[in-house]
Amino acid sequence: MVSGSPKYPRDTRGRSLRDLRISVIDRCNFRCPYCMPAELFTEDYQFIAKELRLSAEEIERLARVFVALGVEKLRITGGEPLLRPDIAEIVQRLSAIPGLADLALTTNAVLLAVQAEALASAGLQRITVSLDSVDEAVFARMSGGRADLGRVLEGIEAAAEAGLSPIKINAVVQRGVNDDGVLDLLEYFRGTGHIVRFIEYMDVGNRNGWLLDEVVPSGELVQRIGARWPISPVGAQYPGEVARRFVFDDGLGEIGFISSVTQPFCGGCNRARLSSDGVLYTCLFATRGTDLRTVLRSGAGSDELTDLVAALWRARDDRYSELRSQAAAQQDEADSKKVEMYRIGG
Ligand code: GTP
Ligand code: 5AD
Ligand code: SF4
Ligand code: SF4
Repeated sequence: MVSGSPKYPRDTRGRSLRDLRISVIDRCNFRCPYCMPAELFTEDYQFIAKELRLSAEEIERLARVFVALGVEKLRITGGEPLLRPDIAEIVQRLSAIPGLADLALTTNAVLLAVQAEALASAGLQRITVSLDSVDEAVFARMSGGRADLGRVLEGIEAAAEAGLSPIKINAVVQRGVNDDGVLDLLEYFRGTGHIVRFIEYMDVGNRNGWLLDEVVPSGELVQRIGARWPISPVGAQYPGEVARRFVFDDGLGEIGFISSVTQPFCGGCNRARLSSDGVLYTCLFATRGTDLRTVLRSGAGSDELTDLVAALWRARDDRYSELRSQAAAQQDEADSKKVEMYRIGG
């Protein structure tokens, strides 16, 4: 079947389904204040119960349904996916699905040094690391004081040695928190082949007390970086790519900017998200999803699941980032219901 075949569903805005992001666990060993503030996510916080979490086999079954509908790229996320004891099995099952072009995993890398080799052997193609700063104190603040920067940097090195490249380093930039460390982050990774990407701080979930003032527009960063090292824009690597790419003119690497606040990219959004308890969301900012786990566990076959997902995708109308300014007017109502980032992994 070729892309564009009538068998592949398109949503109400003509967007196809190409990318599935699978959250395998909602727990995390960090407490980034913009995602899981430590004062809210305490010892007795109720995460998704283990029996409600999809097993490795169930994840594979659902992933196969999405691949049959045109998905070519899978990204494993969390919470922190490396906290799942069976993460290598999940990778191994997903990598064996025919028709996949890309299998990636997003991690905070604190457990990566010991697992990189096993993940690569299981068939993982590449790794994206969430790292907001290379300054010890800022890193500690942004990860909720739970981790050691040295271990994260070792994890990145181990991933490179295991061949999990190109390695991308995702940094959420928050004004007054880590924006003054942007050049240091680039200095550290320039010349390593790793791609640093700066993400505009977003109003995801309901708990980070998001303020527009804290967003550093990518345009401002491009100016600041360009004043230090000349950079030039380059084209997208695939249709619907989220990051806008730049390269250092001296050949020492690539930088990406993910500007969902100042330059929304809903028009090309071909991403679906599955939470660890099997709820399907068609937008990062969704207020509701569809429980596929119950359908799966009630004995539905692949055809039934495929029809259900295709119908959900055909009905999809999401474009939250494009509507953000209007949405702000109705914020109180919408905010109480948005799905949390740690449940769908960004
Ligand atoms: P590559 O496959 O390496 O190009 O990465 P990706 O496009 O899958 O991006 P990644 O998973 O690294 O996402 C980085 C960040 O971009 C996420 O953590 C989110 O903050 C943001 N992001 C990704 N997808 C979306 C999206 O569909 N909508 C919005 N608003 N933000 C997104
Ligand atoms: N805005 C932008 N990115 C965020 N992430 C988590 N919360 C936010 C937010 N409010 C990013 C993390 C990680 C990915 C999983 O999501 O930094 O890179
Ligand atoms: Fe964990 Fe990532 Fe959320 Fe930080 S942003 S608390 S590393 S899931
Ligand atoms: Fe896609 Fe929703 Fe993000 Fe827009 S806001 S790019 S529709 S996930």
